[in-house]
Amino acid sequence: MSQYIKDAPETPGAAGAEPEATRRDADGTESSRASRGWWDRNADDYQREHGAFLGDDRFVWGPEGLDEAEAGLLGPAEALRGLDVLEIGAGAAQCSRWLAAQGARPVALDLSHRQLQHALRIGADVPLVEADAGALPFRDGSFDLACSAYGAVPFVADPAGVFAEVHRVLRPGGRWVFSVTHPIRWAFPDEPGPEGLSVSGSYFDRTPYVEQDDRGQAVYVEHHRTIGDRVRDVVAGGFRLVDLVEPEWPAWNSQEWGGWSPLRGNLIPGTAIFVCVRD
Ligand SMILES: C[S@@+](CC[C@H](N)C(=O)[O-])C[C@H]1O[C@@H](n2cnc3c(N)ncnc32)[C@H](O)[C@@H]1O
Repeated sequence: MSQYIKDAPETPGAAGAEPEATRRDADGTESSRASRGWWDRNADDYQREHGAFLGDDRFVWGPEGLDEAEAGLLGPAEALRGLDVLEIGAGAAQCSRWLAAQGARPVALDLSHRQLQHALRIGADVPLVEADAGALPFRDGSFDLACSAYGAVPFVADPAGVFAEVHRVLRPGGRWVFSVTHPIRWAFPDEPGPEGLSVSGSYFDRTPYVEQDDRGQAVYVEHHRTIGDRVRDVVAGGFRLVDLVEPEWPAWNSQEWGGWSPLRGNLIPGTAIFVCVRD
């Protein structure tokens, strides 16, 4: 029931066995370790499978295909020129490449070394930083803007801690815009077909989704927060929420991405994008 990358191949456990999918607690250390390992092992498949849809130099907010060039959630594209921008959980840094093309000065940060190697492969001529979103290696007030397209936030045990870090490195008035799986999806099976349209669990169950190996060690973790939880985390982090965007499924998009599909996308939201301003 992984809510974002389920269509990627399963990662064999230590003894070569398929990981077991379960719901159980996973703290920050275990979640980070699992994320780094999973993305390092699966980055090649992920980029092979989704790279064309994401585009090497576009800023796509999620599987619906909402493009920042049209959405303008970071502000007008012409106002990005000269801004210091931090992209968190950048993957292959496609969004940072788009930002650089607008005249911004992006820094692309990711936990996964292999994901950042793909940034080099596609020719991302931006600074790449390998670090955890929970401990940003930058001075206070280093950036005018921070953004993340499904990077880090869905995978961390302490999103409020990440937001506090983003607040610290942003200058006053700076925007923090991030997308995550729409929380309502957690009440449904992560299936693109009709079986993904019937509620199968509690929306209010915050127990993380964990895939673990045969020694019980997490190899993949996602954390669920309700919409209300996310709003409270944003506010606790010192931000004002100025918009919450739920992209509708566009007629041109016929692709399935894990549990995201035209069928489901036309009926229930799949992505939530939080547009926040640092006070
Ligand atoms: C679904 S990808 C999103 C990347 C890119 N925006 C895209 O759409 O392909 C999630 C990214 O978040 C990164 N990530 C996961 N946990 C992280 C953490 N704690 N700190 C920094 N990056 C993290 C992963 O390594 C991965 O590259």
